[in-house]
Amino acid sequence: MASLLRFAATPDDYRQLAKRRLPRFLFDYIDGGAGDELTLTANQRDFNQWRLRQRVLCDVSQRDTRCQLFGETLSLPVVLAPLGMAGLYARRGEVQAARAAKAVGVPFCLSSVGICGYTEVSQNSEKPCWFQLYMLRDRGLVSELLERVWAQGCRTLLFTIDLPVAGARHRDQRNGLLDQGLAGKFSKAWQLLQCPQWLYSVGLRGKPHHFANLHQHSGVPSDIHRFKQWLDEQFDPSVTWSDIAWLRQQWPGTLILKGLLDQQDVAPACDSGADALVISNHGGRQLDGAASSISQLPLISQAIDGRMPLLIDGGVRSGSDILKACALGATAILAGRPWAWALAAGGQAGVEQWLRRWQNELSLSMALCGIRELSQARDTLMPA
Ligand code: FNR
Repeated sequence: MASLLRFAATPDDYRQLAKRRLPRFLFDYIDGGAGDELTLTANQRDFNQWRLRQRVLCDVSQRDTRCQLFGETLSLPVVLAPLGMAGLYARRGEVQAARAAKAVGVPFCLSSVGICGYTEVSQNSEKPCWFQLYMLRDRGLVSELLERVWAQGCRTLLFTIDLPVAGARHRDQRNGLLDQGLAGKFSKAWQLLQCPQWLYSVGLRGKPHHFANLHQHSGVPSDIHRFKQWLDEQFDPSVTWSDIAWLRQQWPGTLILKGLLDQQDVAPACDSGADALVISNHGGRQLDGAASSISQLPLISQAIDGRMPLLIDGGVRSGSDILKACALGATAILAGRPWAWALAAGGQAGVEQWLRRWQNELSLSMALCGIRELSQARDTLMPA
């Protein structure tokens, strides 16, 4: 497998390698989307509605793929998106991915439903990473979580706003990941989380808890089945913009809202005190039939009019996709599945290799479009 890793060129190549390694339910959990996966498909496909302009004789001998975000320099405009349960994709998965992100010079965002805890990930990646959170019904727990990661040096909170309820993910339903099974019998998928051999392979055997960020708080059930039920009940569909105002008071650091997709939500988002927005449909995992992220970028970018950094995720699969997103007004993109597949295929080395491939592809695309830095990206595009 390690030798095959060397030949992986695209996210789909890592995906094929990941498919060989992961149990079916886990591969599907990563790969799948909601409903008929129309939005999942559209996310990727709609990048093709734009063409890059091939320009010649522009002296592109020096190119710079770096960008500035919240006073930091990123070696390329990419952030590793929060992914739940990533510690099951490879041994101490979040730690390996965070190390890779650090080595290449881009931020890593830890999901609140990650396996490894914030302390472990930040300590091992030698840099405090970003932290992602959903609004939980237990606001006391939200405050506690924020205080805890702040004390560990976290200064960037990514707050996910597109999950008032969980989307209908058919693959997860078929694989038994979502329900607790019949007559008290638990699904195969959750049984795997109790399987000593598997837990050993991902570095969890002997660890008292699986979801370290949440499990370290009192009152959170340690039994995996009761935990799942508790988590389902914690998602809070009553959240409104006034909860974001509350959150703003709780969090003194950078606050990013992730999951905006409609132009009409831009005004309240700008008034909410957030520092940045991520256009996202949760990688097509929530509302099937919703617009693709990239199709919304021009309108939302226009509505924001430079008031705050705008990020985007969903379907970014190459360096030229990154350039298109920047050309349409994004400061940076978040990548989800690509790092999950690279991690499952090759651990830290896989993620590092994938990131360097994208940096190289971005640089090549810039050269062929005749630009030297990303501030010139707006000149590179035309409609298909
Ligand atoms: C996600 N996503 C997600 N988002 C979030 O805010 N918190 C989370 O815990 C998760 N978990 C998660 C797990 C898996 C397996 C996937 C694929 C996605 C959404 C994620 O952060 C991001 O929005 C999408 O993955 C972006 O789309 P692409 O890059 O996967 O196409």
